[in-house]
Amino acid sequence: MTITFEPAIAPGTRPELPSGPPKLSRDLLRQAERDTLATPRMAYSLLARMMFKPVDLLYGKQGSFTKFAMLETIARVPYQAWERMGYWAVHRHAARSALARRVFERIVEARADQDNEQWHLLIMQDLVQRNGERQTWLLHRAAPWAISFFYYHVSWMLFLVRPDWSYRLNAEFEDHAEHEYMTFVAENPALDLVPDPGTYAAEYGRHRSVADLLRQIGHDERTHKLDSLESMREPRVR
Ligand SMILES: [Fe+2]
Ligand SMILES: [Fe+2]
Repeated sequence: MTITFEPAIAPGTRPELPSGPPKLSRDLLRQAERDTLATPRMAYSLLARMMFKPVDLLYGKQGSFTKFAMLETIARVPYQAWERMGYWAVHRHAARSALARRVFERIVEARADQDNEQWHLLIMQDLVQRNGERQTWLLHRAAPWAISFFYYHVSWMLFLVRPDWSYRLNAEFEDHAEHEYMTFVAENPALDLVPDPGTYAAEYGRHRSVADLLRQIGHDERTHKLDSLESMREPRVR
């Protein structure tokens, strides 16, 4: 008897990659801003406050493109930590292919969010340069590295002992970022009149104004937060 397998995906075509957070229309972006501003911030843990406090002290309480570039540098760190832990788990469960595949699905998700954060960082760096804002080695190289180093190790260690805490910490970080972006847009109405330079339009999309671009990024952060809260409900892949 010959066993034939129907391929799930026709040869010559590619499976779809996770597309990342949805791109919103102009009206939905404004609605997203109102929704965020009407939602109270999460109750931040001590660990989260240990990161937010030095950031506020070093870069100011008010939002700015340099501060956001700094936040985006550290934003992708937990996703990297989870990706690394995921590969370790795939290897460990290699004999149980269904479980290894589910772990791998989480890795793919973490990588999609990491890429999304990477675009945020590139967009912020572009806005910093266009605005001629100065970045120093100490504040914009050494300090982000030190905070990332701390965050990375906290993320993987937490993930090892209590993965739900690791997801919760990220949800708090994302909630903070979401509120920072939307508050900044609300406090700077002139940004609605500045056209989106569209430097990464091919990869990220192009909005009408810098304000809409920031609203879209703020909404991405909310999506990341909701993903982490969802993962908290089933922190260990079974
Ligand atoms: Fe981000
Ligand atoms: Fe994020």
